[in-house]
Amino acid sequence: MLFRQRYIGLIDRYKDRLPVHDDTRIISLGEGNTPLIRLNNIPALLQKDVDIYIKYEGLNPTGSFKDRGMTMAVTKAVEEGSKAIICASTGNTSASAAAYASRAGITAFVLIPEGKIALGKLAQAMMHGAVVLQIRGNFDAGMQLVKEVAEHTPVTIVNSINPYRLQGQKTAAFEILEELGASPDYHCIPVGNAGNITAHWMGYSEYHKNGIVNTRPVMVGYQAAGSAPFLRGAMVENPETVATAIRIGHPQSWDKAWNVQKDSSGWFDECTDKVILDAQKMLAEKEGIFCEPASATSLAGAMQDIKTGKIPEGSKIVCTLTGHGLKDPDTAIKQSGGEGSLITIDATLDSVRSAIMDHY
Ligand code: F0G
Repeated sequence: MLFRQRYIGLIDRYKDRLPVHDDTRIISLGEGNTPLIRLNNIPALLQKDVDIYIKYEGLNPTGSFKDRGMTMAVTKAVEEGSKAIICASTGNTSASAAAYASRAGITAFVLIPEGKIALGKLAQAMMHGAVVLQIRGNFDAGMQLVKEVAEHTPVTIVNSINPYRLQGQKTAAFEILEELGASPDYHCIPVGNAGNITAHWMGYSEYHKNGIVNTRPVMVGYQAAGSAPFLRGAMVENPETVATAIRIGHPQSWDKAWNVQKDSSGWFDECTDKVILDAQKMLAEKEGIFCEPASATSLAGAMQDIKTGKIPEGSKIVCTLTGHGLKDPDTAIKQSGGEGSLITIDATLDSVRSAIMDHY
């Protein structure tokens, strides 16, 4: 019999680099270890000599990068005796919190903005048995409420202001460095609360400090144009974007992200909803990779900067795709022409044959 060592999750894999003890009860669903996929077709379409890798975080257990942080946050919450966790969310954090809470046997309370979370995420939070509180307000209002309520109630916040979240999420950078054998030149990432860009920089910096790699990437954070406080240089009161995951006007890691920008000599930029959706479609059609709209912001932004030469030819670029395309089926169907664009035919051989000839 041939055995391969079973992959049991990122805490086990990086135990020596994370704040856990030998006897810590690990709450895991086998997260991390996501594929790093080299794009075959898009660089040629851009007519630029660039090497683009996709870190496909949508392949985590609940379909987003949140699981990296959630395994740590819930593990520590349980270790510290917490019986309940709480978060405000644009959807993915609530799905992940719900799943890890059920795994741990504790309660998850999630606050979501009414009508503004993608269907798949809502299905997940409900299915895992979270207490779903739909608020008449946006993510920023929910976040404020969560912070206030946690001061007087025995619930652990598992938003990215929980430092264990960033500890877990830094492992994505470890995986990239280990797979490439060196640092990429640029790391492009969507920015909402800016926890993930901060966590990646922590991960890159840790391997750099320990002498495992010689360089660190330039960090580039992309926001949706209607929700771009880092571009405005100030909080945005009524953020709007089709990329509901990053519909955030008051980023929680504001100072940390500005430090990442300075330390890495990076920058922030914005993408219109149209450019984001175009990139999402392009990835799906030209590379076979399906991500949700917010995720496509990283590639959309990278393509903008590659076209202008701000990211020069010869560069090795990693784009994080934060969440799976199945999270938001409504947007996917809508932007593929809607259900009305499906070809409906009679169930006969002739109809199938002629439909094939029409589209060959
Ligand atoms: N991409 C996706 C798919 C997300 O769900 C989020 C954040 C981000 C990017 C931005 O990451 O906040 O660390 O800068 N989603 C949070 C949530 C807010 O509630 O699921 P960030």
